[in-house]
Amino acid sequence: MKIFSANLQTLQELYNNELRKALDLEEQIVKALPTMIEKSSDTQLKQAFQSHLQESELHVDKVKQLLSQQEDSDSQTCKVIHALVTEAQDTIKDVNDPDVLDVALIGAGQQVEHHEIAVYGTLKNWAALLGRTQDAQVLESILNDEKHADKLLSQVADRVNSDAAAVAA
Ligand SMILES: [Fe+2]
Ligand SMILES: [Fe+2]
Repeated sequence: MKIFSANLQTLQELYNNELRKALDLEEQIVKALPTMIEKSSDTQLKQAFQSHLQESELHVDKVKQLLSQQEDSDSQTCKVIHALVTEAQDTIKDVNDPDVLDVALIGAGQQVEHHEIAVYGTLKNWAALLGRTQDAQVLESILNDEKHADKLLSQVADRVNSDAAAVAA
């Protein structure tokens, strides 16, 4: 619960506010991904996280670029990503078996991607409604990266998850 209200009156103000949360979201992801890479055992999974770290660094730049057009530069916190990253950190501590940990890391990664897909889908829609065509294009390119990252993780999961299940059986 926050103490002061952001007092958002218009869709433009709501858009600006959510864009600032998106910047925090990406910055938190860029900080969290190196641990996910380090803790992954499967080579393909490591590569998927590694390539998405590079994409996420570009997302930081792209969102900063969109925010540079705004007058108000107050920072915002994405509480959802903070919670998801904390959950992932807890899981890394709790799971010992490397194959099971890979399964857990894929699950944690996909939860983040699904949230990002919702965030950027919404922001793209709002940008279009506000007549911010260029913003909408940038947001769509980020959205496509998130969808691609999610798909890649699903492909890795098809193999890694069944391997882990086979060991358990
Ligand atoms: Fe991203
Ligand atoms: Fe992402």
